[in-house]
Parts: sequence; structure tokens; C-alpha cells
Amino acid sequence: MVYELSNPVTKTLIMHLRDQSSDALRFRHTVMELTKQLMYEALKEPVLTQKSITTWRGKESYEVIDEDNIVVATVLRAGMPMLDSAVDLLPGVSAGFLAMKRDETTHKSVLYYDRLPDCKGKTVILVDPMVATGGSMMDAIELIKGREPLKIITLNIIGSPEGLEKVSKAYPEVDIYIAQIDERLNSDKFIIPGLGDAGDRSYNTV
Ligand code: PRP
Repeated sequence: MVYELSNPVTKTLIMHLRDQSSDALRFRHTVMELTKQLMYEALKEPVLTQKSITTWRGKESYEVIDEDNIVVATVLRAGMPMLDSAVDLLPGVSAGFLAMKRDETTHKSVLYYDRLPDCKGKTVILVDPMVATGGSMMDAIELIKGREPLKIITLNIIGSPEGLEKVSKAYPEVDIYIAQIDERLNSDKFIIPGLGDAGDRSYNTV
């Protein structure tokens, strides 16, 4: 199932990502803000646990998200600011790293680094800002599925209807939270209107 954020703050932040005058710092911070919005949405019905803390009244127990059972996995490079944002918000989760590069000729993604923690029985939140053809997401989901997680959730900033349909048809059990669904893919498999290459925009590389 695909869930799109629809609030005006989201739209305003997306405009800053499209704006080519937003520098790398602004771009990353905007991605991080949007990631927090996506986290609030995606974790509406999380597994809760009790945590004992010392308050001004003494020892008390409160309901909190069970961070020990959450893995946030990122796809390098563009997913890095999203991972930073997620682990800032919930520092008890564990982080996983996948590196994929989309071959701009074949438009297929190639995995070249895999450093996922134990995912068995856990909720894995996969973060990648862009869903163009959906190929990278599908490869990442397939790899994570092999690690026997309880559930997979994806957080994405911007995507094409074509890519999202492909992923959600192939993996109906995966919940996809996305800030903005754009119009279409062009013949070079770029998202239109899109925002350029999120990895390049985040880190000033070309
Ligand atoms: C981008 C993006 C996704 C992928 C989306 O990464 O971050 O991982 O492309 O394309 P797809 O849906 O067609 O697979 P890119 O390959 O540009 O690498 P980068 O993060 O290093 O910029």
C-alpha cells in the first residue's frame, strides 16, 4: 500500500528540494525534516513496550516505541540524510547500509555493499529518497526479505507513479510512505518534474 503525505508543510518543503538554488545543506536538512514527517506517519501503529525511567516523582514506567526491534536501512548515497534523521529521532534503532548504483545506460541498479544488522523478526524501515523505475527499491526489498524481518516499511521523498506501482504490485505486503508522488518518468527514467539527482544535490557531486 502506498501512503502519500498531503499536508501543506510537506508541499512547501518539496518546493525547496526542487529549487536549484537550495544548497547542499538546505537540501539535506529538508530531506531530514521530510523524513521525520514520514516517520511519524509510518509509526502510527508500532509495537510499543514499557520503559522504566526515573522521573521527578521516582521510578515510573511509560509506553514507548520498541526501538530494539527496529532496523533502519539506507541505500547509499542519497539515503544517508534520511538515515541520519531517523536515528536522531529514535537513537535506539539499529542502522543498516546497502550501496547500489543505478547504471544510467541499462537503468538497472547494482548492489556493491551490504552491511545489514540482524533483521530477523524486526521491523525494517528502508529509506531512499527517490523511486524512479523502482528497481533499486525492489532489489533492496528482496535482499531484506531474505533476512526474515517481521515487516518492511519504506520511506521515500519523491517517486514516479510507474515505479511505485511496480513496487507495490510486486510487494503488496510492504507499506510505502512517500512525501510526493510526481507526474511520470521520462525516457531517460528520470522523475518528472523531480528534483535532480538527490545524491548529487546532497553532497555537491556531479
Ligand atoms: C538513485 C536513488 C535510488 C535510485 C532510484 O540513486 O537514490 O536509489 O536512484 O532509481 P530507480 O528507482 O530507477 O532504481 P543513484 O543510483 O542515483 O545513486 P546515489 O544515491 O549515489 O546518487
